Amino acid sequence: KRVAVLISGGGSNMLALLRDMVGDHSGRAVFVGSNDPSAPGLVRAAQMGVAVAAVDHRAYGRDRAAFETALLEPILASEPDILCLAGFMRVLTPEFVRRFEGRMLNIHPSLLPKYPGLHTHARALAAGDAEAGCTVHEVTAELDAGPILGQARVPILAGDTEADLSARVLVQEHRLYPAVLRRFASGDRTRLDL
Ligand code: GRF
Repeated sequence: KRVAVLISGGGSNMLALLRDMVGDHSGRAVFVGSNDPSAPGLVRAAQMGVAVAAVDHRAYGRDRAAFETALLEPILASEPDILCLAGFMRVLTPEFVRRFEGRMLNIHPSLLPKYPGLHTHARALAAGDAEAGCTVHEVTAELDAGPILGQARVPILAGDTEADLSARVLVQEHRLYPAVLRRFASGDRTRLDL
């Protein structure tokens, strides 16, 4: 399966996916795109020989559709079978999502359905939760609400700061996302709980 990945920043999840797809895997990375031309992840993906492109969302003001039309061009040119959002921080329109319905994944840094949206770790800490984690789900028109494909849990420890928790969850993201993509690329939709 041809896999395209969208990032907005460092792309640590994208790197974990690309590294896992080297060698025996049903998926092959064919493209990495970003809404931010300065995203460090773009350089790292290019160094790994993957086609990259950036479409600066700021050049399109509030015209979300125009931004997505521009971003779609290099995505479609790579002819992906699967589209993975990995630290991609732009909300996509239902029209964009519909094009990839059933073959578009995202990783979200909370145990969905708890804490959709932003600042997930701060909210878990504020709520006094005993545990936190991350979720890989299919992307649907509703934000952070598609079918769950996998989750990984971590304990919240006394004295944890948001940075402590974020770092602990990120380690699990780098385990969970590649494992879920392996299953998904081989046609296996069974949920994975790490
Ligand atoms: C991670 O917390 C991820 O869960 C969220 O974006 C953050 C940065 O991800 N979606 P990355 O390092 O850019 O992959």
